[in-house]
Amino acid sequence: MTTLTIARPDDWHLHLRDGAMMQAVLPHSARDFARAIIMPNLVPPVVTSAQAAAYRDRIMAALPEGMDFTPLMTLYLTEDTDPDDVAAAHASGLVKAVKLYPAGATTNSASGVANFDKVRPTLDRMAAIGLPLCVHGEVTDHDVDIFDREAVFIDRVLDPIRRATPGLRVVMEHITTRNAVDYARAQGDTLGATITTHHLVINRNHILAGGIKPHYYCLPVAKREEHRLALRAAATSGEGRFFLGTDSAPHTDANKLLPCGCAGCFTAPNTMPILAQVFEEEDALTHLEGFTSRNGPAFYGLPVNTDTMTLTKTPPQVPSHVETDDGPVTVFDPGYPLLWSVT
Ligand code: DOR
Ligand code: ZN
Repeated sequence: MTTLTIARPDDWHLHLRDGAMMQAVLPHSARDFARAIIMPNLVPPVVTSAQAAAYRDRIMAALPEGMDFTPLMTLYLTEDTDPDDVAAAHASGLVKAVKLYPAGATTNSASGVANFDKVRPTLDRMAAIGLPLCVHGEVTDHDVDIFDREAVFIDRVLDPIRRATPGLRVVMEHITTRNAVDYARAQGDTLGATITTHHLVINRNHILAGGIKPHYYCLPVAKREEHRLALRAAATSGEGRFFLGTDSAPHTDANKLLPCGCAGCFTAPNTMPILAQVFEEEDALTHLEGFTSRNGPAFYGLPVNTDTMTLTKTPPQVPSHVETDDGPVTVFDPGYPLLWSVT
């Protein structure tokens, strides 16, 4: 197969940032993706419906003329979140999900949740109105090894939350382990799971063997090879519960290349070429459309995009960096030549 036409993809987990960074990175997502779930971990975070509406307006103002892109807004769940505000934001169509960051789990997560009892009224309300909860699934306890934090979260936090609020629709975001794949497969249709581009490509050796590679550092951190293989099998399986959430998370090189560098891989510019290659390698190109364009809308109860994307087997032109007024941002390098272009 040398050309493939699929329904236009969506990105079910994206960091667009704000200001100069957003201006520079937004066109790279808007070119390939019709819609994206927009992460709310700005400084300060997007907590209220008013903040989400203002952020959506800034995104639309930054969108280049002629580009067709719809931001699907989220609210950042805090222990002070007002269930009525969440319900109103959902009813108006503004907000498509609420994001749970365990306090301290990742970039700008200090306002996240420490005491889950405090958010129970909001979660109960979300279950009643069918508003999904997107979950950053890592415990933050210092005594839990960073490579175990996702698996421990499933047992200690995720499963109890779902039992306490039956019917709550949950997206396990950016899953990185066989444990998460197995858990997702054992649940009913209230549970979905997103998989990033980079976790299909790198394992922890890519970050650490032969010298440290800051541009491969993200959270949840990439795990052992057996987990990468489980993610590839899940993504390419055609199972509806798995769909694309790139977690494209731009940081300037200055902020990545520090003694304490930021977590995040910037994959918006080359996600579709990488995915086409991964699916081809797994002999699963027929399942690419499900993963990028059909399974996500089905979970969120939204229509599949009616326009299409054509991929052609010719090497793509991918920039190594994107320039921003804050400095350059390095594009994720899969470490091998790419074979498929978006045409
Ligand atoms: O690698 C990551 N970067 N993981 C996250 O959870 C947050 C993100 C960011 O905002 O930079
Ligand atoms: Zn993220």
